[in-house]
Amino acid sequence: MRRSRGKLTRFGVSMEAPLLERFDRAIRGKGYRTRSEAIRDIARNYLVGEEWAGDEREVAGTITLVYGQHVHGLADVLTAMQHEHHRLVLSATHIHLDRDNCLEVLVVRGAALEAKRLADRLISLKGVKHGRLTMTSTGRELA
Ligand code: NI
Repeated sequence: MRRSRGKLTRFGVSMEAPLLERFDRAIRGKGYRTRSEAIRDIARNYLVGEEWAGDEREVAGTITLVYGQHVHGLADVLTAMQHEHHRLVLSATHIHLDRDNCLEVLVVRGAALEAKRLADRLISLKGVKHGRLTMTSTGRELA
């Protein structure tokens, strides 16, 4: 049975007791005050995953790269690729981690497939030591 209160809808969930106990411990450890808050975030995560699965959907995210600044030509290639995708790459932040290593964070917004392809191309470049695409949402379709 559903009961609407304001904009929220209540619903019942059945679950095995051991699973619920583990879930409660896990979400308490993350700082959730109620199961509802945790379940809402899980639902949003699922929906963000769906957004990214639709190749043409507009998504937002970040591409984080760690690379060696001495690798010949790499900085030029990274810059050229960002120019090539100037509509997708909204901003780039460069941090000199130490004498040899750079951290770059690109904020991207655009078609999911284009963002994934750019991330793959950047992360697979020789000299990029680690890279990660963080997939989030434009937020427009999330309550
Ligand atoms: Ni640097």
